[in-house]
Amino acid sequence: MSPASPSPEPSSSPAAAVSSPSPSALLLLAPMEGLLDHPLREVLTAIGGVDRCVSEFIRITDQLLPERVFTRIVPELLQGGRTRAGVPVRPQLLGSDPSCMAENAARVATLGPEGVDLNFGCPAKVVNRHGGGASLLREPELLHRVVAAVRRAVPAHLPVTAKMRLGYDDDALADDCARAIDEGGANELVVHARTKAQGYRPPAHWERIPSLRAIVRIPVIANGEIWTVADARRCRAESGCESLMLGRGMVADPGLALQIRQGSGDPPDLVPWRRVLPQIALYLALVTQRVERKHRAGRIKQWLHYLRRRYPEAQQAYDAVRTINDPVALAARLFAPTFPETP
Ligand SMILES: Cc1cc2nc3c(=O)[nH]c(=O)nc-3n(C[C@H](O)[C@H](O)[C@H](O)COP(=O)(O)O)c2cc1C
Repeated sequence: MSPASPSPEPSSSPAAAVSSPSPSALLLLAPMEGLLDHPLREVLTAIGGVDRCVSEFIRITDQLLPERVFTRIVPELLQGGRTRAGVPVRPQLLGSDPSCMAENAARVATLGPEGVDLNFGCPAKVVNRHGGGASLLREPELLHRVVAAVRRAVPAHLPVTAKMRLGYDDDALADDCARAIDEGGANELVVHARTKAQGYRPPAHWERIPSLRAIVRIPVIANGEIWTVADARRCRAESGCESLMLGRGMVADPGLALQIRQGSGDPPDLVPWRRVLPQIALYLALVTQRVERKHRAGRIKQWLHYLRRRYPEAQQAYDAVRTINDPVALAARLFAPTFPETP
């Protein structure tokens, strides 16, 4: 299954009974290159419920990147490191050369982010061929050196966080990797509970997280396959993590973080379509500023594709614009006063 295709509705097994999460439980917005970038971060954080975002990865190879690369990928750095709704965004670096990662982390730290995040999970072939992303999960010792070098290079008051998968081909080195990240000096660890080989195939193995939590001293945040409030409850129960990172689930249901906070509502309130539609218009405006014309219609359709999972109106809208590639014609169709019907 491609990551862009929402998986089938998760199993309907009853949500495990868990006590309410503490007020310090965080809900983070996941980094998703090509999907959840600046325009969608703006929109999703405006809807609410999100404590912090991580940017899509910034690839570090063998050079010190100019500031403009960081601010292009994370334009929030030009506005105090936060989205307009005031939610902090941590730039995420991806690379395997400790000194180069450190140099770039030091530079991005001067641009006023609220922290720096490191990617140890990207499954992309081109990234792994160059020793970045998930491939580091085969080399915990190198992983430790990357984290330690970045930690040394970034001022002590700025958190350095990391995101890992359970492993590359299997999870045999998961404990070593988590320990390497902790001992390297990271302040927090997000675990996407799948190996690289498992790609984005459900399920996510939340049950593998408690043993990692037992090894490390830093907070652990669970990630993977949280599409509904019931999933969030089960994930908390199985992983033992109160804080969660939400990815595709938030793209499909922009009110998911609000619903998870609301908690007890059964069924929880869906953000009504009439509130989502203006956000699609804002998204289109932001995409128009930032994305090449030929890709704009595709970006809107990509979001509608996810929204179909929760909103019949999104299905209607998607069907109406599916074959339209011109962004102006697409906008005219989508925002014509009679379409889509709203209650
Ligand atoms: C299109 C796409 C792009 C992604 N890009 C990144 C990335 O840049 N950095 C990263 O750490 N994870 C990336 N991920 C992984 C997500 O952050 C997340 O771990 C994964 O989607 C599982 O969470 P979910 O089931 O809630 O979506 C990406 C995932 C998708 C689907």
